[in-house]
Amino acid sequence: MAQQPERPTLFQWSGGFPALTRMTRRFYETYVPEDELLAPLFANMSPDHPERVAAWLGEVFGGPKAYSGTYGGYDRMISQHIGKEITPEKRARWVQLLVRSADDVGMPTDPEWRAAFVAYVEWGSRLAVENSQLESHPPAHMPVPRWWWVCDATPDARVSALAVQTTEEAPVMELPTEGEPISFDAHIKPLFRSKDRQSMKFVFDLWAHDDVSLHADAILQRLRNGSMPCDGAWPAEKVDAFDRWIQAGKPA
Ligand code: HEM
Repeated sequence: MAQQPERPTLFQWSGGFPALTRMTRRFYETYVPEDELLAPLFANMSPDHPERVAAWLGEVFGGPKAYSGTYGGYDRMISQHIGKEITPEKRARWVQLLVRSADDVGMPTDPEWRAAFVAYVEWGSRLAVENSQLESHPPAHMPVPRWWWVCDATPDARVSALAVQTTEEAPVMELPTEGEPISFDAHIKPLFRSKDRQSMKFVFDLWAHDDVSLHADAILQRLRNGSMPCDGAWPAEKVDAFDRWIQAGKPA
């Protein structure tokens, strides 16, 4: 089966642990201690609580299983909420200040990441309310959830309406003439516009022979089904040229 080009995880898009930790530090070290609803709840938290929650979020957002590996996974997280009797007011404040912390430290502001982020903190915080009630019986030994983009929509799959307008023309197709061998440099690379390159650069470089060779089957599949480029499918002859280059052994 053809390999799909990777799409970024929420963890990668967020900026990884440094960014998540900046956010949780801002939240637990600046906002929580001065908030009358939250300060008492977190008065005895461990000094590394921001790193712990960043590790949890990183794992949920598709990053390394750092919370499970280092701190004890789902069971540890649940054990810390049990009996805390979190009220709806405290929950709402928690979410409000976490989102404010995300703004303060420059977490991504694109609609896709924010939608996924807020969806998770809404969901998770409402579970925290349930799990923290005296009469609650949280299920034991559950996996750490793995969150994903809302409706599968990644930010790179769409051209923003605010993107700088370029007058970049569709590339001129230079297909090999009769008997001329097809090559990456002369015929394939010019098919990709700089904006195509830009929108895929988080995973590979469309102007690099090695990268395109490695992902050629997956690229071909997406060109054929019209999901790439995201602003309009290629005409069949262009897709066929790409296919022909693969058949020819992907020459440089
Ligand atoms: C998406 C929502 C949430 C996530 C992902 C989350 C995550 C975590 C994690 C991973 C821990 C355990 C850290 C450790 O290993 O010690 C923890 C502890 C805790 N959480 Fe949450 N939490 C959420 C919502 C909430 C809410 C809404 C509240 C209260 C308003 C809350 C209050 C607490 C408290 C009081 C602790 C224990 C702190 C301590 O004394 O060490 N959490 N949380």
